[in-house]
Amino acid sequence: MRRILLWMARNGWLKDHLPRLPFAKRAVRRFMPGERLADALAAADRENAAGFGVLFTRLGENLTELAQADEVAAHYHHVLDRGKARGRAIEISVKPTQLGLDIDPETCERHCRELAAHAQEVGTWFWLDMEGSSYTEATVALYERLKRDHERVGIALQAYLKRTATDLQRILPLRPCVRLVKGAYDEPEAVAYRSKTAVDGNYQVLAVALAEAARDGKARLALGTHDSALVERISVRAEAIGAPRRVLEAHMLYGIRRNELSRLVADGYPAYSLVAYGESWYAWYMRRLAERPANVVFALRQLLP
Ligand code: FDA
Repeated sequence: MRRILLWMARNGWLKDHLPRLPFAKRAVRRFMPGERLADALAAADRENAAGFGVLFTRLGENLTELAQADEVAAHYHHVLDRGKARGRAIEISVKPTQLGLDIDPETCERHCRELAAHAQEVGTWFWLDMEGSSYTEATVALYERLKRDHERVGIALQAYLKRTATDLQRILPLRPCVRLVKGAYDEPEAVAYRSKTAVDGNYQVLAVALAEAARDGKARLALGTHDSALVERISVRAEAIGAPRRVLEAHMLYGIRRNELSRLVADGYPAYSLVAYGESWYAWYMRRLAERPANVVFALRQLLP
């Protein structure tokens, strides 16, 4: 089921047709407050009131024209200004291919640098999402270059990739800001662990290494997972090496396991909600279904009157 859903995520015909169907629009609302920035801002107020910090991501990836990247960058600059105006920071999380990595890496890097500088100026953070494994090297290398010149830049690293332990060692000297995730794409066995046990095991090892750096003020660590049991196992290991809960940030996607995020806040973990919005939600939404095929049942129920 997971592989079929991830295949559907990449299928161009479905991408053009499925989002037009009213039942799909209704189903996606479970994970998205709406398509407009105004919807995301209203959600941010609610998430802040619940004690969560917020990150925004406007959905879209693999652009086909460079002009689209300019528009995306302009949108995120606007979001940074809106965050400043509302007096509560909004961190932004962007896919490099949404800023033109596929078409012109130099333009992508220029946009990233400008957004990182702007984020720093308004006292917030600019994050690079991690996409499929064909982009990992370019994204890690981009992060290395950005982080040398900009303090408040983060990167997502995927625990299912076998190369991630090496990537982490590579960026640790930069005092990195890392969102550790399990990984959402369909990757071959040659590059990725396929079993939950192996992925979770690698996640825990990587998280503890980052917690050690965070304990010494040499990293910022975001545990980007809905697996609160795993967060708690990591917390026990972290405590054993003297890393307090306040350096283990819990980051979850808007609309998923909100009660668990509230519980983690009550237990002393800083918590963040990543709010996705925008019209290009199809591929992203299919990855959310692939993560938990039971969500397909929810989606299909929206077919009923
Ligand atoms: P796991 O799949 O083991 O699930 C743990 C628990 O959460 C289970 O009970 C499960 O049912 C529930 N759960 C998980 N997903 C759910 C869903 N969609 N709906 C309902 N319940 C669900 N990936 C990537 O490749 N690049 C990236 O940049 C990011 N960025 C990112 C940011 C943040 C804040 C999060 C939380 C996640 C990402 N991801 C990501 C996605 C990540 O790689 C992974 O696919 C999902 O988080 C699902 O894995 P879990 O860690 O939640 O664990």
